[in-house]
This record gives sequence, C-alpha cells and structure tokens, in this order.
Amino acid sequence: MTMSITTANKFEYLKSRLGVPFYENEHALIFNRECISSMNLLENEIFDLTVTSPPYNIGKEYEKNLPIADYIKWTGEWVKAVYSLTKPNGAFLLNLGYVGLDSRAKAIPLPYLIWQTVPFFMIQEIVWNYGAGVAGRHFLSPRNEKWMWYVKNEAQYTFNLDDIRDPDVKYPNQKKNGKLRCNTLGKNPSDVWQIAKVTSGTNRSSPERTPHPAQFPTDLIDRIVKGFSNPGDLLLDPFIGSGSTAISAIKNSRKAVGFEVREDYCKIIAERIDSMLEEEKQRKAQLCLFGENVN
Ligand SMILES: C[S@@+](CC[C@H](N)C(=O)[O-])C[C@H]1O[C@@H](n2cnc3c(N)ncnc32)[C@H](O)[C@@H]1O
Repeated sequence: MTMSITTANKFEYLKSRLGVPFYENEHALIFNRECISSMNLLENEIFDLTVTSPPYNIGKEYEKNLPIADYIKWTGEWVKAVYSLTKPNGAFLLNLGYVGLDSRAKAIPLPYLIWQTVPFFMIQEIVWNYGAGVAGRHFLSPRNEKWMWYVKNEAQYTFNLDDIRDPDVKYPNQKKNGKLRCNTLGKNPSDVWQIAKVTSGTNRSSPERTPHPAQFPTDLIDRIVKGFSNPGDLLLDPFIGSGSTAISAIKNSRKAVGFEVREDYCKIIAERIDSMLEEEKQRKAQLCLFGENVN
C-alpha cells in the first residue's frame, strides 16, 4: 500500500510501529531488532533505497549456518519485506559473495542461488574488485564480490551518473570537431569498481576500521548513495552491522534506518555516528573562525 507520509514524520511512524530505537537523531534511527519481524510490522512504501549485505551463510561470528535451501528461503523472506517497503521508483543494492556447496561447488556466487526469490527488476551486476585478500593455492585468489542493482520500476529510477563520474581520464583534453570528447566531470565509472576493502592487522589496518568483521569501505557506499539516491532520501539497511550505510547517508545529506540484531554492534554504530557528527561540528567551527561559509 502506498501512503503519502512526509519525510519528517516517517521516523515517528517507524517508532510508533517498532518501539524505542537503540539510537536516534534527526538523521538516523538504529533498531536493535531482527529485521524480518521488524519489517513485517511496517506496511508503507517509505524507503527510496536499500543498501545491504546480509550474512552469507559462511560461519562468520554473527551468523548461524543454515542448510542452503533454508538460507535461500530466508533470503526470499527478507527480500520480499524490503520490496514491500520500497517506494514505487526506489532501488535495492544488494552485496553478495560466494558459498561452498557440498559435492557441487567450491565457491558459487550467491546471486545464482537466490535469483528466483527476488521480485525486483534487475538493472545490472556490479563487480566490486576489492584489492588484497586470501591467496589461493589450488584456485584463483578471490578478489571480487558482486553488487546486484535492482529497481522496482524499470522505467523510472534514480541514476545520478554525474555525481559518480570517475575523474581519472587518460586523455582528458582529446577533442573531436573542436569539442572535448570526454565529459569534464570524468568518465562513467563502469560496472567494475576498484575500491579497497577495510583491512585489519597491526600495520595495515584501515583508519576507518571498527571491531566489526565485515565492514564496508565508506568510499564504496558513498558511490552507491550518491549514484542511486537523492539528497533528503530515506535509506534502509536491514543488516547494518557497523553502521556504514548510516555513516554514508548522513555524510551525503540522506537519512537512514538500520536494523542490527547484536547489541555490541549497535554500540559501535552509535559511537561511529556520534564521532562523525562531532568531527563535522569541529570542522565547521574551524571554518567559521576563518570566516568561511560552512554550508
Ligand atoms: C555482513 S554484516 C553487515 C556489515 C555492514 N555492511 C557493515 O558495513 O558493517 C551482516 C550483519 O547483519 C546482522 N544480522 C544478521 N542477521 C540479522 C537479522 N535477522 N536482523 C538484523 N540483523 C542481522 C549481523 O549481526 C551482522 O552485523
């Protein structure tokens, strides 16, 4: 059902249905709740964009492995809930990796297994080439995961190409008939994105790293948020982990709602958002000191 509720009272609507969030401010609501049962308590198409990476069923500390048929069924349930809460012109960016299948596959891309369960229209698959990782001995070293770009309406969806153009152009001054051949903002970033993953380790840990074991790099989510949503939009991450989707949403003037079952991860999210907002406040205060316009 589509009901017209303004951005200002969507947060009130969510709280009236889901109770007190673990964390809230004017930009984000984080619920320490299981996502399927929570989304099933909602009935309006309120989200412009969902960005998420669910558990992959590979035995990480935050998941319990299921038989593959049950995992596919579970995926169908949460994706259906996301679909029913997505605006008619909204989108769904889904990050998935690989799983092993007994006697069938060492590593099969999860998108192959869940294809039948997704009611969205698929625009395309984006390959995220994340740089370093484990070294294979009897197979090629894995260096990518996929992002599935889904929309609800194939004829009407947000794509802000100019906001995500790649300025790294080989021949920026090349002309044809006196006109520059390349867009001055840069080239189309293509469907292969080379963005380093968040690393751990004593000497090679990424500065943005939190204790969460599967944190998205913010550069990656920034590209998705800018490319596939507009300022003021409401974003959802049903498996928000360390809060990367909320961080990127706030940084880019969007709003975010997240679900996370583990309270320790919710604490990471709260600290991350608060420290980002504090840094932003201090940055603006410094600029004011030098008489610069901060907006
Ligand atoms: C792959 S991680 C997401 C990491 C996230 N993209 C980030 O940047 O930190 C998946 C997260 O989903 C959470 N989770 C698992 N099942 C859940 C459920 N049913 N509802 C809500 N959260 C869940 C896990 O605790 C975990 O933090």
